This record gives sequence, structure tokens and C-alpha cells, in this order.
Amino acid sequence: MHLQILLLLALLSSITATEPIKIPGHHVETTISPRARPDAPSGSYAPAVVPCPAEKPSIRRANTLSKRETDWLAKRRANTVDPMIQFLNRAAIEGFDAEAYIKNAAAGVRDLPNIGIAISGGGYRALMNGAGFLSAADSRIPGTTDKGGIGGLLQASTYLAGLSGGGWLVSSLYANNWTAVETLRKGGKDSNIWRFQDSIFKGLEVPGIFDTVRCWADIVEQVAQKKDAGFETSITDYWGRALSYQLIDAPHGGPSYTFSSIAQDNDFSKAQTPFPMLVADNRAPGTKIISINSTIFEFNPFEIGSWDPTTYGFAPIEYLASNFSGGLIPSSGKCVRGYDSLSYIFGTGSSLFNAALLKNLTGVDGLPKVLTETVTEIMKTLDADNDDVAQYVPNPFLGWNNATNPTHDTLELDLVDGGLDKQNIPLHPLIQPFRAVDVIFAVDSSADTIYSWPNGSALRATHARTKSAMGNGTLLPVVPDDTAFLSLGLNNRPTFFGCDINNFTLTDPQATMPPLVVYLPNAPYTHMSNYSTFTPSYSRQDIDGAILNGFNAATQGNGTLDRNWPACVACAVMSRSWARTRTAVPAQCASCFQRYCWNGTVVVGANVVAGGGGAEYQPAFKIADGSHSAGVRRVGLSASVLMVAVVAFLVAL
Ligand SMILES: *[C@@H]1O[C@H](CO)[C@@H](O)[C@H](O)[C@H]1NC(C)=O
Ligand SMILES: *[C@@H]1O[C@H](CO)[C@@H](O)[C@H](O)[C@H]1NC(C)=O
Ligand SMILES: *[C@@H]1O[C@H](CO)[C@@H](O)[C@H](O)[C@H]1NC(C)=O
Ligand SMILES: *[C@@H]1O[C@H](CO)[C@@H](O)[C@H](O)[C@H]1NC(C)=O
Ligand SMILES: *[C@@H]1O[C@H](CO)[C@@H](O)[C@H](O)[C@H]1NC(C)=O
Ligand SMILES: *[C@@H]1O[C@H](CO)[C@@H](O)[C@H](O)[C@H]1NC(C)=O
Ligand SMILES: *[C@@H]1O[C@H](CO)[C@@H](O)[C@H](O)[C@H]1NC(C)=O
Ligand SMILES: *[C@@H]1O[C@H](CO)[C@@H](O)[C@H](O)[C@H]1NC(C)=O
Ligand SMILES: *[C@@H]1O[C@H](CO)[C@@H](O)[C@H](O)[C@H]1NC(C)=O
Ligand SMILES: *[C@@H]1O[C@H](CO)[C@@H](O)[C@H](O)[C@H]1NC(C)=O
Ligand SMILES: *[C@@H]1O[C@H](CO)[C@@H](O)[C@H](O)[C@H]1NC(C)=O
Repeated sequence: MHLQILLLLALLSSITATEPIKIPGHHVETTISPRARPDAPSGSYAPAVVPCPAEKPSIRRANTLSKRETDWLAKRRANTVDPMIQFLNRAAIEGFDAEAYIKNAAAGVRDLPNIGIAISGGGYRALMNGAGFLSAADSRIPGTTDKGGIGGLLQASTYLAGLSGGGWLVSSLYANNWTAVETLRKGGKDSNIWRFQDSIFKGLEVPGIFDTVRCWADIVEQVAQKKDAGFETSITDYWGRALSYQLIDAPHGGPSYTFSSIAQDNDFSKAQTPFPMLVADNRAPGTKIISINSTIFEFNPFEIGSWDPTTYGFAPIEYLASNFSGGLIPSSGKCVRGYDSLSYIFGTGSSLFNAALLKNLTGVDGLPKVLTETVTEIMKTLDADNDDVAQYVPNPFLGWNNATNPTHDTLELDLVDGGLDKQNIPLHPLIQPFRAVDVIFAVDSSADTIYSWPNGSALRATHARTKSAMGNGTLLPVVPDDTAFLSLGLNNRPTFFGCDINNFTLTDPQATMPPLVVYLPNAPYTHMSNYSTFTPSYSRQDIDGAILNGFNAATQGNGTLDRNWPACVACAVMSRSWARTRTAVPAQCASCFQRYCWNGTVVVGANVVAGGGGAEYQPAFKIADGSHSAGVRRVGLSASVLMVAVVAFLVAL
């Protein structure tokens, strides 16, 4: 692989020699402003060696929340009180005095509802559907606090987790100053932000500002800077950088933006936003298979690490790539900063797309032939080496928990797409007992069925894992199998799982109750939002239609399908808190639970409710075709070819 990188560098320097690659800043007049900061000490994509702080960074055991998270939570929980009261007041559960109850519960915090949101993977489909949900839940967006809305739920939430495409969404919000989805959706003049009309596989362009060739040359140069600084690079570097042009509204896609810089942000440090978390899976040395036994890694603004009984430790994310050994940096050792590039991290969690990127770079029009060939060569070598992963070198967990940690003796930590273990909804960070989350809004845009609709398999995968040796104290309510799921139509409407706490028998009486899961599957409310995962570009109409569809799913069409829906969401939010305070459930909530809770019934058979035509699940519009376009049918040959290629790649794993 080194030969190819050298070739690429040689090529690059030949380009730069004749024609310096300089892309004018395109961050002009837009209301979007950066949040995560250009914090890498190098000022570029390259990490840099820096003196260690007085108290040297070290790895900690996963036997508690980090002190930084605990301190942050004290502020956040308090900050959720007012938005929660407002949200509950608007939802107006009959016979429930929300203000009196929440004020009382806030005193001890323990009884205050603790809300988490999980946005699944599924490429741009997941990003757009998830965006629709976040938009509906965000009280800053006009209309969301009107009758039928659920605005304010986001402001009342503690945690916001994203996986793969859902991780792109979460990252983009924090990279852009917690800008509301609505602003990002509208984009900016001379900016690529959320311009999903352009395929990054082809290379992005802003007419008159930069073209695809320059975009890719820019990316190649950024990655080369990391390599030149002495750090390993992998295809994930290229992938993450390419995505950045659409997700980070800063010149050159903000090469020096880091994940840890979110922690320094004014609003985040004052706990005015939820706590963002991304997930990835470890590919254990010498293995290719990702299974429920694979160790799951979490990224948050303070740390990277794992709660699993294998690695069971966390490193300070700001100092990633420092030479930790046995949890410590040797006394003579220096520290590294800037390795935790935001783009490398959201690229890591979505490395599934590496193969598609690799294969498609060869198709970029106008790239110099030698660059195309070089890229092709790199791809071949990468595939051959099974190097499609994000390599974290040095491995922070070297010599850590030797008895159980599968990477205790490897110099690199290999991480891959968080959905490859089938747990495509990032529930794992939210079901950690230390976090004591009461209710999870699980937005599922998985492509489980032939036509890219979910069938609940992500929930089942996580449930199975909680029951395995990897569970380590995590709990998730029972979820029925795929046949039952489809025949009951649970993938076509919101469903609550784990409503009845009396159905849980906790072996440890001190254990936290499993959360109630509000499952919100991608379904066609007003738009056919079932794009295949690898569809690389979308029409403006489809982008707007898919986001609005997610909004309509979150609000049940602003209450069109059920005028009690906002109250039912509020009932789900309150459920665990009422159980803790032994408060009687209001009658209106009892009827919500009757309607939305899965009651344990398993109807076996091919009675696919919303199907209408054959055994394969092919749902019809739940409200109306709001798109007035045949856009969805446009997904034609090239997407199928891409799918075949990617499936072939997955099989090759
Ligand atoms: C981020 O947005 C807030 C408003 O929510 C604003 O006060 C602040 O100045 C913005 N930060 C930057 C860096 O633009
Ligand atoms: C996971 O590990 C357990 C115990 O080591 C083993 O029995 C099981 O077969 C493994 N499962 C998978 C899917 O690898
Ligand atoms: C989780 O795993 C760690 C490390 O193996 C162990 O010490 C701890 O007791 C486990 N926690 C639970 C709740 O099982
Ligand atoms: C970490 O260790 C490697 C290998 O020994 C060495 O090349 C590198 O300079 C070290 N980095 C730091 C920051 O000490
Ligand atoms: C890559 O892009 C080309 C055209 O740009 C397309 O024909 C092809 O299907 C895409 N996918 C792969 C895996 O090559
Ligand atoms: C753990 O493993 C590392 C690397 O294999 C080794 O250097 C170290 O001595 C081991 N530590 C313990 C406590 O066994
Ligand atoms: C449900 O989804 C999984 C993939 O996640 C798939 O293997 C299974 O066949 C699906 N079941 C049905 C009935 O569609
Ligand atoms: C719900 O309200 C939003 C604006 O707040 C609107 O864009 C959308 O079309 C409405 N949905 C339905 C189904 O009327
Ligand atoms: C449970 O749900 C099924 C299907 O939704 C319904 O037919 C049945 O009556 C429910 N059972 C109870 C006890 O409510
Ligand atoms: C209650 O728990 C049992 C045993 O785990 C499970 O089989 C059943 O499906 C659960 N019922 C509900 C409604 O979650
Ligand atoms: C989307 O779903 C509809 C039916 O629900 C189906 O007819 C269509 O082919 C699907 N589109 C894709 C891209 O799978």
C-alpha cells in the first residue's frame, strides 16, 4: 500500500507544483455557523505531537460514568426541566399537573424523566428520516409547538446517539453550532452543506468556486498531511473528508474540526444541548466477521472506549493517538492532539461505504488518468489487505485488560461501521445502566426488507446481545420476531416496547429498569422514503420530501392519524418516572398504552397488514403522496449496480 500512497503523493505534488491547489473559502453569508471548532493544533487535518498536560491523560475502567459526563449531566438535567414542563403542558395529558409534578421531581433529579434519542444507520436515507424526527422535536422550528406537534422533546432530552448515516446527522448538527435541521436543509449560498443532490462519489463542486477535480485533489492533500505528520492513513480518511464538504459548513470541509472540541463549545459546556454519541464496532485481530460478540466502541465529546466486558475502558478522546500502554503514557512520552478529527470519526462509524467510494472514484469525470489509476491501485491493495476499516494507530488499549481485551496486544485498533453487527440503532450507549435512561426514541431507517423498509431486526439484535455474555448489565424490552413484527404492522406505525414494568424481573433489585422504547420506523407517510442505502444523490424534491416524511412520522401527520399522539408521546416520556414515584397512570395514558404498546401478542402468519399486493412488504402511503413526483422510481440501474457491487463486497467479508 505504501507504494501506492507514494505514487499518489508524487502525483499530488506534481499537480501542486504546476498549479497550487487553493480553494477560495466558500463560507459566505449563511446563518449556519460552526460549533465544533478547528481545534487540531496543526490547524490542518494532521494530528500533532504536543506536550502532555500536567495531569497526564490515562485510560479509566468503565465501572462508572466519567467525571466530566457526570458534572455535565448535573447541568443538563436541570436545563431540561423548563423545556420538559413546556412540552408536557402543550401535550396536555388530561388530569395531570405537569408543572407541579416535574418541579417536585426535579428536586431529587432521580425522578425526573431521562430521555434519549437514537438515530439509526442507513446512509442518506437515515440522515434525512432522522432529520425529520429531530426537526419535529425541536421547539426552535416554527410550527412544532402548535397543536399536534412534539416540539421541545429535543430540548428536554439528555442524550442523542447516532450510528452511520444517523451519525452523519448528529455530527453535522454539532459541527454547525447546533443549527436547526431546517436551516441545514435550506443550505447556503456557495456552500455544499446538505447538498445531497451531488454525489460525493463523483466529487463535489460549487460552480465557479471549485470543481470535482479540485475537490478530490484537496482531499488527497489533506490526508497526505496526516500521513506526512507520521500517522497511518486509511480509506476512511478519504471517505470522512469527502463527506465533510456536505456536513461541515467551513472552508475545505473544516479539515481541523475535532470531536473533542464539541466539549469546549459554549452551549455544550453550559449543557444547552443533548450529549452526542456515535458508535462503531471493533473488528478483532485476524477476524473478518462482525457479530454480537464484537466489541462496541462509543465516541462522545469526552471519551472513546467501550462498556463491554472485553475492553471495558475509556480513553480521553482529545488525546487519541498518544502512546498509551497499559492505560498510561510512559513518563518520557509525549501527547498527541488533533487525531480525533470529526470527519474521521463519522467516517469510521460508516466505513461500510468505503467500498462504494473506492469503486466509484474511478468513475470521477475529469480526474487526471494517473490519479484515477493510482486510486484504483490503492483500492485493490486495501481490499486485498482487508484494509477497509478505520485504523486507530496507536491502539489506545494496548496492554489494557489483557485477560479480556481482544486488542490488548495489537498496535492498531480496527473499527468498522456500527451497523455491521446488525444493531443498526445506536441503543447500546443508551442502555448502559449508569446512564439510567427512561425512554428511548428509536428512529429506525434500516433497510431490512427487499424494498428497504425496516422490520425490527435492529431491536432484536440489541435485545439478543443484552442476553448474551456481552450484555454486561444492559437491558432492553422483548421484541417479537420478524414475522410477527410484520404481521402486526409494527414496522408501519409507532410502537412502544416494555410498557409494563411488572413484566421485568430484575435479578439485582438495585438494577435500573430497562427503558421504554418508542419505536419509530421509517414508513411512507407522505413520501416514499425507502431509498436504497447506497443511493448517492437525491433531487431537491426528494430531500425535502424525505425530511418532511420523517417529520410526519414523528407527529403522525401533526395529529392527523391520531389527535392524541402528542399526549401519547408525553405518556411514554412520563411512564418510568410515574412508576418510580408510584403515581397512578392517567386514564388518557392508559388508552395510549392500549393503542401503542406491544402487548406480547405474536400473530404468526403472512398477514402483512400494510402490504397490499403479494407477500413482500410494500406499504402504501399512510397519509398522501406529498411528493407529486415520480422521484422515488428514478432509482434505477446505477443504484442497483452499486447495490450489487456492495453486496458482493459484503459477501467477500
Ligand atoms: C452559535 O449560535 C448561538 C445561538 O444559538 C449564537 O449565540 C452564537 O454566537 C453562535 N456561535 C458562533 C460561533 O457563531
Ligand atoms: C459469541 O461468543 C459465545 C461465547 O464465547 C459463543 O458461544 C458464540 O457462539 C459466539 N457467537 C457468535 C455469533 O460468534
Ligand atoms: C461488566 O464487565 C466488567 C468487566 O468484565 C465486570 O467487572 C463488571 O462486573 C460487569 N458488570 C456487570 C453489571 O455485569
Ligand atoms: C509513539 O511510539 C512510536 C513507536 O515507538 C513512536 O514512533 C512515536 O514517536 C511515539 N509518539 C509519541 C507522541 O510519543
Ligand atoms: C460508481 O459510479 C458509476 C458511475 O459514476 C456507476 O456506474 C457505478 O454503478 C457506481 N458504483 C460502483 C460500485 O462502481
Ligand atoms: C499486557 O499485555 C502487554 C502487551 O501484550 C504486555 O506488555 C503487558 O506486560 C501485559 N500486562 C500485564 C499486566 O500482564
Ligand atoms: C428482516 O430483516 C432481516 C435483515 O435485517 C432479514 O434477514 C429478514 O429476512 C427480514 N425478514 C423479513 C420477514 O422480511
Ligand atoms: C405538518 O406540519 C408541517 C409544518 O409545521 C407541514 O409542513 C406538514 O405538511 C404538516 N403535515 C401534514 C400531514 O399536514
Ligand atoms: C393484544 O394485541 C393484539 C393485536 O394488536 C390484540 O388483538 C389483542 O386483543 C391484544 N390483547 C390484549 C389483552 O389487549
Ligand atoms: C414479558 O416477558 C416475557 C418473558 O421475557 C416475554 O416473553 C413477553 O413477550 C413480555 N411481554 C411484553 C409485553 O413485553
Ligand atoms: C419503495 O417502496 C415501495 C412500496 O412500498 C416500492 O414499490 C418501491 O419499489 C420501493 N423503492 C425502493 C427503491 O426500494
